[in-house]
Amino acid sequence: MQYIKVAQTDEVKPGEKKKISLNNKVLLLTNVQGTYYAIDNKCPHMGGSLYEGKLDGGTITCPKHGSVFDVRTGKVVKNGKIVFINLKVNDTKAYPVKIEGTDILIGME
Ligand code: FES
Repeated sequence: MQYIKVAQTDEVKPGEKKKISLNNKVLLLTNVQGTYYAIDNKCPHMGGSLYEGKLDGGTITCPKHGSVFDVRTGKVVKNGKIVFINLKVNDTKAYPVKIEGTDILIGME
């Protein structure tokens, strides 16, 4: 696994998020109470940009149909709905994050 520098710690304060383009992927970097996490930005359901969603503590809500993901693990914590149809949405991928000094690095295969 290769760790790639993506941002400085002061760019993403607690409760904030940032969209990162890395190796032909778009990732969502979040800061949850001082710890940084990275998941795929693209919702596994129909590709909604999770960055456009609401970050609430450790979860982000897809702006398209309301599925809720844990930004720490990428797991779905609540399936969204289209009109009255309940969705079954897959988990999104989580990536390891490490801090070196003031650099934020994301691990890629
Ligand atoms: S695109 Fe995210 S829940 Fe449908």
